[in-house]
Amino acid sequence: MWSIVLIVAQATLAVAIPLTSRNPASILYDRASIPAAAPASVFACSASNWPPNTIGKANEPQQPSEDLTAILAAVDPKRIQATIEKLVSFGTRHTLSTQTSKTRGIGAARDWIHAEYQRYADASDGRLSVKTIGYVQKPDGNRVTFATRISDVVATLKGTDENRLYVISGHYDTRNTNVLDYEGDAPGADDDASGVAVSLELARVMSNPAYPLPKASIAFAAVAGEEQGLYGSQFLAQTYANSTPRVNVEGMLNNDIVGSPNGADPHVIRLFAQGLPPLTVENSTKRESRLQIGGENDTPARNLARFVKEVAENSATGMNVSVIYRLDRFLRSGDHRPFLEAGYPAIRFTEPRENFAHQHQNVRVDNSTGTPVQYGDLPQFCDFGFIARVARVNGATLWSLANSPGAPTNVRIDTEALGNESTLYWDPPVGGEGNVDAYEVVWRATAAPAWTDVIDVGLVNRVTLDLSKDNVVFGVRARSKEGHRGVAVLSFPG
Ligand SMILES: *[C@@H]1O[C@H](CO)[C@@H](O)[C@H](O)[C@H]1NC(C)=O
Ligand SMILES: *[C@@H]1O[C@H](CO)[C@@H](O)[C@H](O)[C@H]1NC(C)=O
Ligand SMILES: *[C@@H]1O[C@H](CO)[C@@H](O)[C@H](O)[C@H]1NC(C)=O
Ligand SMILES: *[C@@H]1O[C@H](CO)[C@@H](O)[C@H](O)[C@H]1NC(C)=O
Ligand SMILES: [Zn+2]
Repeated sequence: MWSIVLIVAQATLAVAIPLTSRNPASILYDRASIPAAAPASVFACSASNWPPNTIGKANEPQQPSEDLTAILAAVDPKRIQATIEKLVSFGTRHTLSTQTSKTRGIGAARDWIHAEYQRYADASDGRLSVKTIGYVQKPDGNRVTFATRISDVVATLKGTDENRLYVISGHYDTRNTNVLDYEGDAPGADDDASGVAVSLELARVMSNPAYPLPKASIAFAAVAGEEQGLYGSQFLAQTYANSTPRVNVEGMLNNDIVGSPNGADPHVIRLFAQGLPPLTVENSTKRESRLQIGGENDTPARNLARFVKEVAENSATGMNVSVIYRLDRFLRSGDHRPFLEAGYPAIRFTEPRENFAHQHQNVRVDNSTGTPVQYGDLPQFCDFGFIARVARVNGATLWSLANSPGAPTNVRIDTEALGNESTLYWDPPVGGEGNVDAYEVVWRATAAPAWTDVIDVGLVNRVTLDLSKDNVVFGVRARSKEGHRGVAVLSFPG
């Protein structure tokens, strides 16, 4: 995890202020002492069930198909453990560490990851292909102190539809306490061998010729340079964005620090999803339009996150997805950011609670408190069953996305005249309507977090619904012949 270093000026206080106001107790209250919730009557007239729905039906989660159920069952915690232990065995995987040793450093780790993907490719009947791509990063005056080759290892499962790609990524570089120390051990089991193990395990399982090929392609990536400034992910995102034609990445999943619940609910994974895209991606005219219609909570990243909840919270994953409406945790950032900056929807999975003694810390035992405390990002602190469940959440998402018809484009809502009804219209997904069986309009009250209602409107590109656009948020999604739905897209004034 790349952290932003903040230099905080320390103000000196001339006048003594009573301790209590400057240093409040670190725990203000426990849950039991929080005042009881306001009486129910305050909320009795809540408008949460308004407007009443006279059309459509409840939007239900999408249950995993037979292939997907088999794929998720094949995800093996022992394989994940073996990957993490192997990656840790390289001592350090710091981006600036040696690239010539066969047993230590980031070069050896890169070659092992490539060889491991190649093993899956060899067993895949030609479905999976592996590439190591990269460039030489010049010294940046910050965390790269000498010219360094940054390499990304990417295994791509080629789908039947050439027009769409989904990307899953973890970073294989590591760090310890001093971000420039490229010689000391930096095992990086949780941060982020866990995320790399998710990419590898899903590549292994999904490329098995026992399963049908997905429609869209899936790239399983392991990138470097994250801790030094997101360099590997930046290179990968830009490689896709600068291809001719530009690669249509319809979703990117970043797994970074997914190694353990650390005492929190082991059936929860956090999912960070950004709001407003940067102005370089969505210009001020479009942003104004978005703000005017209250569309700030319906960015492509947020609707990708809603999709994850619909397809990945079930008994086949054994997980609940806690969406957080933020780019990332405070003072942190990650490999989904360069994808967002390239205009691709991208989200980040992270364990529900972090132990900061077990990331970005030199391996050591601190005896100063009297009780020995083990520091360091060691495999002993990983919960391989938990990581396997996180892999299943990612697997359910990727397989559902890759078998969907993709997202409709240019989704608009008619705002020419005032009216009690709403007219929506849209264009087919990139690559056409070959895989579309029908479109579905989804909606929810503006204050609801997830799509609550849906109506099947058939294979049309325009529909008028007896529901006022002033009261709900509308999205449109495509559904395949096999019943796989795609990500819903917010309708903009057209
Ligand atoms: C802003 O972006 C939209 C596409 O979203 C484009 O049609 C429009 O021309 C852009 N406006 C400016 C001023 O660049
Ligand atoms: C989370 O998911 C598990 C397994 O699907 C389920 O048993 C549990 O009740 C869920 N917990 C919460 C808080 O939703
Ligand atoms: C801390 O204590 C452990 C035994 O509990 C010992 O092995 C270790 O050397 C001690 N470390 C230091 C830095 O004193
Ligand atoms: C909207 O509904 C009101 C009340 O039923 C009705 O009087 C009005 O004609 C409707 N407006 C349009 C444009 O249909
Ligand atoms: Zn990380």
